[in-house]
Amino acid sequence: MSRSASAWVKITGARIVSLLTGKIPDQGTWPMVWGNSRLYAADRWKKRRSAFEHRSYDYDDALRFAVATRRGSARDIREGSMPREALEFIASRLPKPRLNHGLRGLHIGNFVGISLAHLCDAACRLDPGAVVLSIDPNVPHRGVDSPQDLVVGLMNRYGFEGNWIPVTAFSLEPSPIYDVNNASGSATAFASYHGQSASDGLGNLERLGCKFDFVLIDGNHTASYLRRELAAIARIVRPGAMIFLDDVDKANWQQVHAVFNKARRFGFAQVAHQGRVGVLRRLRPAEMRQQPCQDPS
Ligand SMILES: C[S@@+](CC[C@H](N)C(=O)[O-])C[C@H]1O[C@@H](n2cnc3c(N)ncnc32)[C@H](O)[C@@H]1O
Repeated sequence: MSRSASAWVKITGARIVSLLTGKIPDQGTWPMVWGNSRLYAADRWKKRRSAFEHRSYDYDDALRFAVATRRGSARDIREGSMPREALEFIASRLPKPRLNHGLRGLHIGNFVGISLAHLCDAACRLDPGAVVLSIDPNVPHRGVDSPQDLVVGLMNRYGFEGNWIPVTAFSLEPSPIYDVNNASGSATAFASYHGQSASDGLGNLERLGCKFDFVLIDGNHTASYLRRELAAIARIVRPGAMIFLDDVDKANWQQVHAVFNKARRFGFAQVAHQGRVGVLRRLRPAEMRQQPCQDPS
């Protein structure tokens, strides 16, 4: 079968499945299935206005909203986002704003924006003037092409547009992403671009002179990348800043677990650990003098 015939069979099959079941297959995307259909244009902006009327943030509502966009499967969106308990644990440990200083947060790795919206909500409760800066390359992830579209939707739905600065970049150098590398994967051929983005987000924040009070890291999960991320983060957080690491559970993410356990070497103290979330604190200069840090590379 020729390439175009096989693509036609795949797309038509996916359309039939999605019409019959009301769902789309895992790792599929709505634009991939309907992108060149007349039905897609009509469906696309249905109920747009009411979707963006401001409302209070709610974890379940955020997931429902993301799933309802039909830009990815419900399973991929749920499993690719941090669970409510993990986010509530982080929210309960955010630092209080210092006198005369607004709370400043850094969020690495958005996917469709669930953890970002959750943290933004928690930060704004502590300080209505809080600002959270998010870094994500917006490359296809879990079959969702251009996930930042959904992030923008979520952040506007909950009224966070004035408390949020999105940065479309890799935190360090561009790194391999499964969806993009998987050349035979169905999503790849339809992705708006193939893993391209800005790079060195953390280095550029340092050059801009940014300083953060808390950071959530949930991007690249390899040990060598994460170690260098921590080293870069050490230069852009205030002494005493809280750093939250997702996926420190040894059974699933040995590399993240290993970096979390050795964070003292890079100038961070381990302060807590619950399920998949590990909490670090940036050491103060006096604490660091007691035990000099090592080069993380
Ligand atoms: C597990 S998902 C994040 C889920 C999100 N924290 C949530 O719970 O809603 C990982 C995300 O990190 C992004 N990512 C991968 N490498 C990255 C890097 N070097 N810098 C920033 N983001 C990265 C991926 O594109 C993906 O969007």
